[in-house]
Amino acid sequence: MKIGILISGRGSNTVALADAVASGEIPGSEVAVVISDQPSAAGLEKAAERGIETLVIEKAGRKRADHDAEIVAALTERGVELVCLAGYMRLLSPEFVRSFPNRIVNIHPSLLPSFPGLNVQQQAIDHGVKFSGCTVHFVNEDLDAGPIILQRVVEVKDDDTADTLASRILEEEHGAYIEAVRRVVSGRLLVEGRRAIYSSE
Ligand code: GAR
Repeated sequence: MKIGILISGRGSNTVALADAVASGEIPGSEVAVVISDQPSAAGLEKAAERGIETLVIEKAGRKRADHDAEIVAALTERGVELVCLAGYMRLLSPEFVRSFPNRIVNIHPSLLPSFPGLNVQQQAIDHGVKFSGCTVHFVNEDLDAGPIILQRVVEVKDDDTADTLASRILEEEHGAYIEAVRRVVSGRLLVEGRRAIYSSE
C-alpha cells in the first residue's frame, strides 16, 4: 500500500512511520511522498534523508479547497492509497476527505473525544484530568471526530506543564501510529458506523 504523509513541522511521527515501513514492521507498504504546507518543516529533511520524495505545497492565500485539490492531485499522481496526517495543522476540505474514504488517518495528542483542536495538552492540564494520551483515528469531515483506531493512555502528573505532558504523550504516539497503520494496511480493520473494529489473526 502506498502511503502519503502530510506534515507541518517537526516530523517525529513521520520518522517513526517511515522507519517502521523500511524495517518491515509495517509490512507491504511504501512511503511514496511526504508533503508539507510549511517550507521550513523540519520533517521534510528527515524524510529526504530516508530517500523519500518530499514536496512543499503552500496554501499561499488560496481557498482551502484549491490548496487541497493540489495536494490530492499530487497524492493521486503517485498512486497513494493511504494518507497519514502527522502533525498536519490544517483542517481538510470535504472534497479531500471524500477523495480518500476511510483512507485518511490522523494522530491527535489527547484521548478523543476529549480535547479536540489545538493546545490540547494545556487544555487537559487546565481541566484537571488525571489521564490523557493519544488517539489515532480515521478522518471524516468534522474536526478530530472520525472512527477511533486505537488510543494509548498517559498519566497527567500534578507538576506537568504542557511541554512535559506533550513529550510523554509523544513517546506513546510513535508506537501507536505504527500499530494503527499496520492494522489499516493489514486489511483486517473494518469500519462499522462510528466503530473501527480490528480482527487480529
Ligand atoms: C504530535 O504531537 C501530533 O499528535 C500533533 O502534532 C505533533 C506533531 O509532532 N498533532 C496535532 O495536534 C494535530 N491536531 P511531529 O511533527 O513530531 O510528528
